[in-house]
Amino acid sequence: MTMRVFIPRDAGAVAVGADEVALALEQAAAVRGMPLEIVRTGSRGLYWLEPMVEVVTSSGRIAFGPVSATDVPSVLEAMASEGPHALRLGAPGKIFWLRRQTRLTFARCGVVDPRSLGDYRIHGGYDGLERALSLGADAILADVTASGLRGRGGAGFPTGIKWKTVALAPADRKFIVCNADEGDSGTFADRMIMEGDPFVVIEGMTIAAIAVGATKGYIYIRSEYPHAVAAMKAAIAAAKRGGYLGARIGDSRHGFDLEVRVGAGAYVCGEETSLLESLEGRRGIVRAKPPLPAHKGLFGKPTVINNVLSFAAIPFILAGGAKAYADFGMGRSRGTMPIQLAGNVRYGGLFETAFGITLGELVDDIGGGTLTGRPIRAVQVGGPLGAYFPRALFDTPFDYEAFAARDGLIGHGGVVVFDDSVDMAKQARFAMEFCAIESCGKCTPCRIGSTRGVETLDKIIRGERVNDNTAVIEDLCNTMKFGSLCALGGFTPYPVMSALKHFREDFGPRPARLEAAE
Ligand SMILES: Cc1cc2nc3c(=O)[nH]c(=O)nc-3n(C[C@H](O)[C@H](O)[C@H](O)COP(=O)(O)O)c2cc1C
Ligand code: SF4
Repeated sequence: MTMRVFIPRDAGAVAVGADEVALALEQAAAVRGMPLEIVRTGSRGLYWLEPMVEVVTSSGRIAFGPVSATDVPSVLEAMASEGPHALRLGAPGKIFWLRRQTRLTFARCGVVDPRSLGDYRIHGGYDGLERALSLGADAILADVTASGLRGRGGAGFPTGIKWKTVALAPADRKFIVCNADEGDSGTFADRMIMEGDPFVVIEGMTIAAIAVGATKGYIYIRSEYPHAVAAMKAAIAAAKRGGYLGARIGDSRHGFDLEVRVGAGAYVCGEETSLLESLEGRRGIVRAKPPLPAHKGLFGKPTVINNVLSFAAIPFILAGGAKAYADFGMGRSRGTMPIQLAGNVRYGGLFETAFGITLGELVDDIGGGTLTGRPIRAVQVGGPLGAYFPRALFDTPFDYEAFAARDGLIGHGGVVVFDDSVDMAKQARFAMEFCAIESCGKCTPCRIGSTRGVETLDKIIRGERVNDNTAVIEDLCNTMKFGSLCALGGFTPYPVMSALKHFREDFGPRPARLEAAE
């Protein structure tokens, strides 16, 4: 009987040797004359176990990991005999990290062959589109609104309201744009889903197109994601061949076409209006709002622009019903959030769970503390514009409003952990420097303010007139927060001010704590 083995093609797994493991397995099986079928999947998101290899056995899929090419002969033996092995993890669904998750958006990631439309269909793919086609535009908009879905790109704007605005805008052409620029530090969920389940993004965009009356869509992917670009292009071609993109989607009267566009490496091109400039072939500079992209977006036409995860949540909402999604979560944060645990953390990866889990549960229980084994000192949530939270705030639940109430943000769900060797004054400087480097230059508080901020923080770090210069930083942060045109300049004060507020002892002459550690 042919042995069926699943090995991720995910960029994170490939980086730690998944391709070499696949090759070694193929060769070892050939030498032994064992018939073997290797299916390249996405990752399950348990990155400390990658390359994680799964085999179909008499009792379902059994995982092994982390497997290196040298482990392959013995792992192959254990797979064939269904015997014990030091790297045997058992049924993937029973591994504590997966068992504790609620996977609605990532249900198929790591399970299916991302290049196979047939596999997608077998695992419930396109059920959402089918229902959407039978419902019609108004009912789709009602469902998306009732689900409570808020944009996963950062701002948390209600998706239903955005779609309705575009649906009501009169125009001869409308566009759907998927924001796959994913520039936030410590984030990789967009990449993972595009590589591991690209059809779910296409299906979500197609449902959006039907809801608002759009006929053309673009996926704007950062250039650092070549695997995701390849996966999306292959899936678009397969969807076209299968009649799920093109002139008559699923034999309906709706036509929708999709193209991939690759960015050129600017953080600010993740900002929606800057992204639209870039898509139109110009330099990525932020546009003043109004007009909103929903009224005048790509090529001046009404445009839905959503994050990858926002679109990827849509098929579940349409297939399972808005209530099934809205039943998860807390307050006005409904459904699940694919949280990304990164930085100095023992168990890093993708953890999808209902809103409401506390930051402490996430980093201590799920993340298992730091990889270095030292105490956690700070956690930055929400990318480079997110606040640094100390342990005293670890009771904050993952909820848009709860984080905002503590001067923080959830953003795209990136959680970056730091141990007690971190110098928070340097982290504050890094935030200002990042803003200075990535600023599009359109407005003064961001363009000039960030550079002055770096200079002033350097003075503080050198111990020069620490109190006076700290007052300058506070004043500068206020100017940037309230005077910047977009959130790059407007939110840089969050990491800077949170570092100052919660870790004041690091500002000034070199902290004794760090001197002692060196
Ligand atoms: C500097 C900056 C960078 C951003 N980068 C991203 C990004 O990489 N991906 C993303 O989806 N949204 C990003 N956003 C947010 C987008 O402007 C926009 O809110 C989002 O694409 C809307 O989609 P959503 O409603 O589904 O979240 C960024 C915003 C700013 C100000
Ligand atoms: S805040 Fe910065 S990135 Fe945003 S528009 Fe102003 S200069 Fe450009």
